[in-house]
Amino acid sequence: MKYIEEIDITNKKVILRLDLNVTIKNGEIIDDTKIKKSIPTIKYILNHNSRVLIMSHLGKIKTADDMIKNTLKPVKERLENLLGEEVLFVPGTRGADLESSLDRSRIVLMENTRYEDLNGKLESNCDMELSRYWAGLGDVFINDAFGTTHRRHASNYGISLNLPSAYGFLINEEIEGLDPILNNIKRPFTVIMGGAKVDDKVKLIERLLDECDYILVGGGIANTFLKASGYNIGTSLYSADYVEKIKELINRYKNKIMMPNDVVVKGDDGIIVRDIDSLKDNDAIYDIGPRSISNYGNILEKSETIFVNGTMGLYEDESFRAGTEGLYQKLSNVEAVKIAGGGDAVASVNKLGFNNDFDFLSTGGGATLEYISSKKISCFEE
Ligand code: 3PG
Repeated sequence: MKYIEEIDITNKKVILRLDLNVTIKNGEIIDDTKIKKSIPTIKYILNHNSRVLIMSHLGKIKTADDMIKNTLKPVKERLENLLGEEVLFVPGTRGADLESSLDRSRIVLMENTRYEDLNGKLESNCDMELSRYWAGLGDVFINDAFGTTHRRHASNYGISLNLPSAYGFLINEEIEGLDPILNNIKRPFTVIMGGAKVDDKVKLIERLLDECDYILVGGGIANTFLKASGYNIGTSLYSADYVEKIKELINRYKNKIMMPNDVVVKGDDGIIVRDIDSLKDNDAIYDIGPRSISNYGNILEKSETIFVNGTMGLYEDESFRAGTEGLYQKLSNVEAVKIAGGGDAVASVNKLGFNNDFDFLSTGGGATLEYISSKKISCFEE
């Protein structure tokens, strides 16, 4: 894959794949790091007298309700503010309105590419007809969506098979930021793995376990690990389909995987800290507890490289913030190379004011995990 400065993008219709998958609550964008970091590539294209059709996913689309929840409309407004120029928003992913959009505006934002997933997962399964259709809307393709480089979807991989293609400034910054750290990982190398669901991270976690020395689990992911270890996790959310696989990983990597030994739960007794072997049937886990923070802190103290991917609990709610905040506090006192990657990790680091404690903040979650564990960028391979 070429770099944007190596291909001709003057006087062209450019299709630009960005990762504008930001957390939106009640119509408000919680953290706009990914949008801000996408601006240089958009401006570079415009400065070459070209027009730009921007595509991105937002969340996952499995039901019609997800479509309402995960519209890119709020992102259009933030883009306009950051660019100081009007952006034409096309509310669909096909049709005459989309096909004529670049004739009507020099900056177009198409609706969520994963709207196509409602119809046989055409985007996520990299449907070739859809890839060709989208490619037909432009002359050149620029991929600057680092966050989805570990996926081969129609809007990143599929289009690149059908147009002259290159990657943009954001991806370049990510590679330049991550390479010097990853080419010579100082050990012990510890990964703080949190976030809501283990589902699409399992394969990456497995590969990462070969690469890292410790993995500290928290967030919803920890619930599945605790369930797999035989604990009663009450009504906590977990991924039933992955319990067996996680059991196998725990057995295979017992010296590397660290789990919380106390948690903050919400249940019949209100919000309370409990040891993990004394949860009640109506308890739901929302954060790790103080002993876990302290144990995890001891591992951080001896680590030379720390990668944060995801939060320890529902940090947006003050009652469940102590795990994430406490761990960042510990981490800020440790001399180590520190990277945070992924939307929620970076948003929490920014919100809790620890951004200056990190050597590199990556826009990629799963993408960075793949890059760390295999040094591969799936959607660049032909
Ligand atoms: C991210 O936030 O990690 C990227 O946008 C990728 O999102 P995805 O895991 O839904 O593909």
